[in-house]
Amino acid sequence: MRGGLDLDESIQTARWLAEDGADFIHLSLWDASRNTNKRPEEHALNLFRSALNEEVRLVAAGNIWTRADAEAALARGASAVAIGQAAIANLDWVARVSDPGREVRRPPLTIAELRERGLNPTFCGKYAKLEGVRRGLASLRRASKLARAAAQLAWLARPWPLA
Ligand SMILES: Cc1cc2nc3c(=O)[nH]c(=O)nc-3n(C[C@H](O)[C@H](O)[C@H](O)COP(=O)(O)O)c2cc1C
Repeated sequence: MRGGLDLDESIQTARWLAEDGADFIHLSLWDASRNTNKRPEEHALNLFRSALNEEVRLVAAGNIWTRADAEAALARGASAVAIGQAAIANLDWVARVSDPGREVRRPPLTIAELRERGLNPTFCGKYAKLEGVRRGLASLRRASKLARAAAQLAWLARPWPLA
């Protein structure tokens, strides 16, 4: 059985919250650069923005690392962005993204660095596992690109059929 609320149920919940006087709705999107799974041609920010009265502010979160990521969410209708992972990795995130000469630090972070930042051991373990999964997926994607390239090369190098 599916758990949690789906997109439309979440929008309806946001409407009810707005009717009850919520000043802002925080959307944690996992990856704020992507459109929704349920309606791939739509972005959640546009959907929530059109469902709610304009005085209800939207805060967007999810994989926002750079100034460009933040500005893209603002351009889609967010009034503000929230950062989680980027803030853990960059305690000086605001200063970094304000300076075009500086880059943001990206994972992986060591468990020791996560502990130094005050994260509890359970979360450190969870985060490190997630990083491992992400790295695993990235290397799988690289491997499948290589396999496709090898198949194309093999096809190009195939013996020409004899006339
Ligand atoms: C390792 C990890 C564990 C998380 N666990 C939960 C959770 O248990 N419940 C939840 O509502 N959100 C969880 N989140 C989502 C965060 O609360 C937050 O919405 C999200 O990380 C914000 O995006 P950002 O960290 O990419 O900036 C988790 C995120 C990460 C990275």
